[in-house]
Amino acid sequence: MKNYVILISGRGSNMEAIIRAQIPGAEVSAVIANRPDAEGLAFAVDQGILTQVLDHKAYPSREAFDAVLAAEIDRHAPALVVLAGFMRVLGEDFVRRYAGRLMNIHPSLLPSFPGLHTHAAALAAGVRIHGATVHFVTPALDSGPIVIQAAVPVLPGDDAGTLAARVLAREHMIYPRAVRWFLEGRLRLDQGRVVLAGEPTGAGALIVPAG
Ligand code: GRF
Repeated sequence: MKNYVILISGRGSNMEAIIRAQIPGAEVSAVIANRPDAEGLAFAVDQGILTQVLDHKAYPSREAFDAVLAAEIDRHAPALVVLAGFMRVLGEDFVRRYAGRLMNIHPSLLPSFPGLHTHAAALAAGVRIHGATVHFVTPALDSGPIVIQAAVPVLPGDDAGTLAARVLAREHMIYPRAVRWFLEGRLRLDQGRVVLAGEPTGAGALIVPAG
């Protein structure tokens, strides 16, 4: 059995999609939130999954928080650490500690629109295609080797909310897929490049037509 740990800050819908995917041979050992009011904790509790809150505000520095978080994660000796709407920047030491086994999902087609408010930024830029990206985490924010992307059309009349909902539905498809690939041992980082075995060419691209 391979263990993985999920970190959340809020709603936790990506966490839920990953847990519901019931990846064979893998078990989520803990869901850790950096906010006591993270809504997603309720689902994890319902599922009988160990949950933990580490409120970053209780720590004097980013490094202090990261060190406690790493200690808690390491108790589970996870094969993979999954950032699922974890809205806290992690320091370089933390990221290096989990190099090659730390994944994130970002609601844009990276490298376009890193940071916050991606859907509003996409609308302001007038792009016709938007989406989401699962990537391995490196010290640079919203960067790192790309595992899988889902593209959706931007439709006339979209606002940030309608566009976010369209993207989120695809997030729920691609993140469980990426986590499963990793935990099945088919996905790895090799000298900074993503290697995916046993999947057809193009498996890292999910393109959803309009309509
Ligand atoms: C998602 O859009 C994710 O891509 C971004 O934050 C949002 C989190 O949503 N990083 P949820 O907590 O998974 O519902």
